[in-house]
Amino acid sequence: MCGIVGGVTNQNITPLLLEGLKQLEYRGYDSSGLLVLSNNNSFLRARSVGKVHNLEKNLNTRKKRIKGNIGIAHTRWATHGEPSNRNAHPHISNNTVGVVHNGIIENYLELKESQSKQGYKFTSDTDTEVIAHAIEFNMQSSNTFLESVQKAINSFEGAYGLGIISSKHPDTIIAARKGSPLVIGVGKYGNYIASDQIALLPITRKFIFLEEGDIAELKLEKITIYNQNGNKVNRPIKTSKIKEGQVDLGVHKHFMQKEIFEQPQAIRDTLESRITKESVVVSAFGYKASEVFKNVKQVQIIACGTSFNAGLVAKYWLEDIAKIPCNVEIASEYRYRNPIILDRTLFVTISQSGETADTLQALKTAKEINNKIDTLCICNSAESSITRESEFTFLTHAGPEIGVASTKAFTTQLVALALLTCSIGVSKKNINKQNEKSIVDGLKRLPGLINETLLQESQIKKLAVRFKDKNSALFLGRGTMHAIAMEGALKLKEISYIHAEAYPAGELKHGPIALIDESMPVIAIAPNDELLSKLKSNLQEVKTRGSQMIVFEDKESKVKSMKAMKIISITSNLGRITAPIIFTIPLQLLSYHVALIKNTDVDKPRNLAKSVTVE
Ligand code: F6R
Repeated sequence: MCGIVGGVTNQNITPLLLEGLKQLEYRGYDSSGLLVLSNNNSFLRARSVGKVHNLEKNLNTRKKRIKGNIGIAHTRWATHGEPSNRNAHPHISNNTVGVVHNGIIENYLELKESQSKQGYKFTSDTDTEVIAHAIEFNMQSSNTFLESVQKAINSFEGAYGLGIISSKHPDTIIAARKGSPLVIGVGKYGNYIASDQIALLPITRKFIFLEEGDIAELKLEKITIYNQNGNKVNRPIKTSKIKEGQVDLGVHKHFMQKEIFEQPQAIRDTLESRITKESVVVSAFGYKASEVFKNVKQVQIIACGTSFNAGLVAKYWLEDIAKIPCNVEIASEYRYRNPIILDRTLFVTISQSGETADTLQALKTAKEINNKIDTLCICNSAESSITRESEFTFLTHAGPEIGVASTKAFTTQLVALALLTCSIGVSKKNINKQNEKSIVDGLKRLPGLINETLLQESQIKKLAVRFKDKNSALFLGRGTMHAIAMEGALKLKEISYIHAEAYPAGELKHGPIALIDESMPVIAIAPNDELLSKLKSNLQEVKTRGSQMIVFEDKESKVKSMKAMKIISITSNLGRITAPIIFTIPLQLLSYHVALIKNTDVDKPRNLAKSVTVE
């Protein structure tokens, strides 16, 4: 979640560190810092709260310039300890070891207690500081810098991406990763590390991607990598084709297709540092979130379009799982209707761009009506009007979404909302340890399940032909799947220009069934849940009206095949949280392939803009 950059070079490292941090700003941060080893081997550190620009100002106004050939830097998003100078990385132990860290050391309290007994003085509230002390402690009984890091790492539980320097070893940076990404950049004038290759693109195109459990020792002209068993390994150097500031299509025909296929990684990135082995990190919503969530009485969600559909799914989750009342409303309605906003409301806005005018204005209006509410935005853009206007921000790390029709932003919003549900439920003690673990386990399965679902693309492509001459389509679902049906209908409308509507399946006989005949394809989502038998009866009703049907089901749903009905079994053993996310995927693929057949401008559908900054 935070950003790391570091390097050993024959030039002054400070400008490179600063530039790297700027490249990482898109991931969000509340403070930043850097640590450089001076030419006389003493540590020089600068840390600032707020933007990287503040750190830059801090550096420029110092009497003694921070200069040296080796250094590490970090952008922080506060989880353990408030955003402040003292909590900003790098953290130092005994003027000997300096560390930057992404991830969470789950047993840090235990380690802190034993290190305090060993005489270490703590200068921050972070979990990271124990890493610095553990390495410093192990240095005393180790032959090499590397050995001290290896020994220290054995005592950590949790996830880490680490950059470490030592005043006793002025020619070396050590990098280590487990559960948090870390890449090595191989440059002309030195070697570098970063949590994301983007940070190093101004310096190099050559990268080594560390694997789980790897530890690397970087010197000016040499990189040595050890695997988790301590054996020396060769990791290939890859040449990145990413251009600075530009996102390319890779092997895909359209950004929409690329973004559909990026969802496993986008979800991994969104989960990173937000869950541990068995629990959610409530403070990922803000270091004071736990207190707010404990006291909150109701949730009001506001959004537009796809983001609104994500909110609809969350309503089911929040009430069913976290046991807190939740309302969801379209921003353009909410902002004009003088709503009543009770005290202890958590006001949640959801927005990919963070710039949607109606959502932004609804948020401002809500704060005017009741200035005591807590505001949280779930957003994909770190620097946006809505994040600036909100007390808490949770960034979805979907990466840039170029296709106008939202795909990976939606599924990462759902992941964020699942984490919110779990965090509120845990804070209010409405979710016990066992349920929390099962939600976390489900979230961890998502990337694999999505990959499995993406394998169905060729089957779904064949189905798209059925829509060639159709003017309308009906999407059906029950419970959270109604919201997913709405998202499926929205996708089809947007990019294929086919009129599509979504209905809760139980509502059919109250009107829409009159529309159904052979010319109206019906798409139903049939997870194996407590509403399945009811949905099956609804499918019978549709079938008798002669419609062509497509049913996306769970392998265990066992929907009975009927004439002109195509059943696609997606995957199995889905839960309340995983099912809506997984069933979104075939609907995205279906719309995409229908749009290809209709020959529309998939990434830039007519009349639509990616960011709706006007009413
Ligand atoms: C649909 C779509 C739009 C956006 C809506 C809100 O594919 O992209 O419906 O979801 O305009 O945008 P954000 O999330 O940026 O507030």
